[in-house]
Amino acid sequence: MADKAVLGLDIGTSRIKFVEARGGRSGPVVTNVGMGMTPRDTIANGVIVDPDTLGAAVRQLLAEYGVRTRSVVSSVASQSSLVVRPIEVPRMTRSELTETMQWEVDRHIPFAASEVVMSFEPLIPPEELPEEAQNMEVLLAVAQEDMVDAHVQTLFNAGLDPAALDVEPLSASRSLIDIVGEQGAYDRTYALLNIGANTTDLSIFRPGGLLSFTRPIPIAGDTVTNAVAEALGYEFHEAERAKIEEGRVYSEGAPALAASAGGEPQPPPEVAPAPPPDEQGEGEERVFDLGAETGPQQPPAEKPPPTTLPAVHAPTAGSSERQVYDAMLPTLVELVTEVRRSLEYYTNRFPDSSVDRILLYGGTTRLGSFPEFLANEVGMEVEVGDPFQYVAVDEASVPAEMFRDNACFMPIVVGLAIRDMID
Ligand SMILES: Nc1ncnc2c1ncn2[C@@H]1O[C@H](COP(=O)(O)OP(=O)(O)OP(=O)(O)O)[C@@H](O)[C@H]1O
Ligand SMILES: [Mg+2]
Repeated sequence: MADKAVLGLDIGTSRIKFVEARGGRSGPVVTNVGMGMTPRDTIANGVIVDPDTLGAAVRQLLAEYGVRTRSVVSSVASQSSLVVRPIEVPRMTRSELTETMQWEVDRHIPFAASEVVMSFEPLIPPEELPEEAQNMEVLLAVAQEDMVDAHVQTLFNAGLDPAALDVEPLSASRSLIDIVGEQGAYDRTYALLNIGANTTDLSIFRPGGLLSFTRPIPIAGDTVTNAVAEALGYEFHEAERAKIEEGRVYSEGAPALAASAGGEPQPPPEVAPAPPPDEQGEGEERVFDLGAETGPQQPPAEKPPPTTLPAVHAPTAGSSERQVYDAMLPTLVELVTEVRRSLEYYTNRFPDSSVDRILLYGGTTRLGSFPEFLANEVGMEVEVGDPFQYVAVDEASVPAEMFRDNACFMPIVVGLAIRDMID
């Protein structure tokens, strides 16, 4: 008999994503995947402010995809109302820990402790710690109660039956990191980088998939869109269209993008902003064809001359692509600088555990050539995370574009749906 189906649901600032999975004999099987737009102004700074409108939108999205499953695991993001943090405490038993955590909370949260929901888990169970260990690490998650209530209310409004509320990086790690170790992931340190609309979330996982560092960065896709809107005098939606259809970034030097799980040489660290984009015909950059839907808008006169080289390199001076590029660049440089600084901080703090590679996900992953840009600017291998790598997909019922082109949106929802189907 087929196991009960579960929905993983991620209600983001810009898009609602879901995955439906069933527990199969040889592991979970993904049976449905979908995405729709989040109604504007229903989420502010990561917090749901309009559960009625949002609940109705979730309900409608699920109906469009023919979803009948009601049991849902959803997630909340590490933003203003949620803190997810590994902390170190003296070694103690689980019951001592429960008591200690009540006190620890105050020291770690930036908001009033009176109305919070808290959860914690030792990274390594006390009974499995090495004998000589004096301290232990505990993963602490504290959320404002109002935020959690609004989230649960939204799920009810959508007609769903909430089974659990998880935190985003842990959910994503379940689908992106093969902690079973069959493919060598067990010994690696990964930086998961989720670049969404409102927030970028950097989470570092030590060997064995242990979350050991988190840092939300308040620069993401919407920041880029706002920069385009401001520079070009566009409304938000026009700037969003320009960014998606024409936006691509460019930086000099060999990209360190990892095509697959195989190791590739790293370029020297490079932090300079992108070079003047007039130099054509000598880079090795590859460009994603994001203009596929409508094609990039370029005045005919500005089209680059026909060339036998792949059409990669900086946008032509004066083209609208170039204007979008110029508008986006300072924000993107700021973003990758923050990422690089956090990685450097981590390396200084934990010299024994340097980050092996970045696993990139979130919608902004699709910004033209962004993964290459990031790899180049941070000087580290970057891989676009594939959440369908370790789970089976029922390809007869899931639209191919959902688990191929849109895979970068799905690591969290896959991890949520399979949460109770894996160990
Ligand atoms: N093809 C594309 N090119 C560039 N950016 C894109 C593309 N497609 C989507 N985006 C951007 O991805 C972002 C949405 O990604 P995602 O769904 O991961 O964010 P979210 O979960 O809604 O936001 P958050 O997690 O910050 O609340 C938007 O900023 C959108 O502009
Ligand atoms: Mg998101």
